[in-house]
Amino acid sequence: MEKREQMYEGKAKKVFATGDPELCIVSYKDDATAFNGVKRGTIMGKGVINNRLTNRLMRLLMENGVPTHFVEELSDRDTLVKRVQIVPLEVIIRNISAGSFAKRYGVEEGIVFDAPTIEFSYKNDELGDPLINSYHALALKLATKEEIETIKAYSFKVNEVLKAFLYEHGIELVDFKLEFGRLADGSIVLADEISPDTCRFWDVKTHEKLDKDRFRRDLGGVEDAYQEVMRRIIGE
Ligand code: TMP
Repeated sequence: MEKREQMYEGKAKKVFATGDPELCIVSYKDDATAFNGVKRGTIMGKGVINNRLTNRLMRLLMENGVPTHFVEELSDRDTLVKRVQIVPLEVIIRNISAGSFAKRYGVEEGIVFDAPTIEFSYKNDELGDPLINSYHALALKLATKEEIETIKAYSFKVNEVLKAFLYEHGIELVDFKLEFGRLADGSIVLADEISPDTCRFWDVKTHEKLDKDRFRRDLGGVEDAYQEVMRRIIGE
């Protein structure tokens, strides 16, 4: 399967058409942005790491009953995926307080929750991805009631599976963002990526940050953190 015309370029990935209308190729870039594109930079080797990590985790989720868009890893940066229409909702699951949760509610980072939380943002860069609830999502016709229920159930399942798997590899899953898509037949599948760009990963023992917060907050050691996550999960 080879790349045809570019369909879309996002902040961290490009999407290409293929000869099959139901398949696309995603190509991961080293570009990094934060704060809705205000802060920009490059994280050397990030594209390769995020491609390989996402695919490893998507496979794990599929083995555990979560349908995804993943089809086949084509190269270090390129992956064949099912073509979907992205549901314009970013789903955020949290196990531990951090980031915008800590800021919004005026609490420190690192509070371990008794149960995971879920929240939605409206995926719209012009509006800065505002926080919304499921009633707003329905009012805006972003998804149906059934789709929202499916998305919630899959998201909590993703959390259960990833949290346990990452813990075995010395990584605490603090929080993460998911995106879902609709296949041609209307069914919902997990799409986008699962990587240190879209998750907070802390070392289980030291709580050292092993994710994009090192870039967002200018903590240094960004490339090393991505490499370390790759080493722990894939073994390279
Ligand atoms: P937040 O604490 O800034 O709301 O982020 C929650 C999680 O979502 C964190 O793991 C990082 C991820 N995230 C994205 O993947 N994309 C984004 O644009 C933002 C703001 C957060």
